[in-house]
Amino acid sequence: MKNKRLIIIGAGGHGRVCEEIAGLCGYQERFFLDDNKDRPSEFVILGNTADFEKYIDDSEFFVAIGDNRARRRLQENIVQKGGGMATLIHPQAVVSASAVIGKGAVVMAGAVVNPGAVIGDGVIINTCSSVDHECNIGAFVHIAVGAHLAGLVDVGENTFFGAGSTAVNHISVSADTIIGAGAVVVNDIKESGTYVGVPAVKIK
Ligand SMILES: CC(C)(COP(=O)(O)OP(=O)(O)OC[C@H]1O[C@@H](n2cnc3c(N)ncnc32)[C@H](O)[C@@H]1OP(=O)(O)O)[C@@H](O)C(=O)NCCC(=O)NCCS
Repeated sequence: MKNKRLIIIGAGGHGRVCEEIAGLCGYQERFFLDDNKDRPSEFVILGNTADFEKYIDDSEFFVAIGDNRARRRLQENIVQKGGGMATLIHPQAVVSASAVIGKGAVVMAGAVVNPGAVIGDGVIINTCSSVDHECNIGAFVHIAVGAHLAGLVDVGENTFFGAGSTAVNHISVSADTIIGAGAVVVNDIKESGTYVGVPAVKIK
């Protein structure tokens, strides 16, 4: 069992899910930092996000913030100051032995990551989503609940795949892109923006 404590940044709904996974991964002590003092929480909130440096010598960190850019900013700041990031994989996720999962990434319950997939730092592979063989998922991407990526899909950094969206095999999706809930991406996306529908088209 792990004996280091885990400091989770962000005590919202996503933080709550990550906290449970961390417990299942063997982190016996789990505390939060959050800038929202009024947030009702059953958890111990030790202070603001900026307080992480107090815990750097005896803790690992996990940034549990859904917003890709905010998560990236906080994680990069912690790493720059020498903090160690945890990687959380739910025991009921299926992750191939040949997949690579980055620092500060989470793979949630029911998710599948198949052989040869590379999952970047700070990525969220959310509940019951799947990332198939040899996909390359850039840093700080979020694959939302129930989204499915077929094999050999390349996703640029900071991109968001909405709930239940799908990407067909062997395409690439540019960085900083938003794929709406339920969208089906059937062609390469070369220009960042917001894409919705079946097949997915750019709306913004
Ligand atoms: C795509 C999305 C980001 C757009 O949000 P937005 O920028 O605020 O855009 P709007 O809500 O103003 O919608 C713009 C237009 O696109 C349409 N639209 C929005 N999302 C859509 C979707 N997923 N599929 C089809 N059409 C969609 C709206 O109906 C609207 O159409 P209109 O101009 O004809 O009225 C958002 O609707 C979405 O799908 N988010 C995914 C959320 C999610 O999956 N969360 C999971 C967390 S785990």
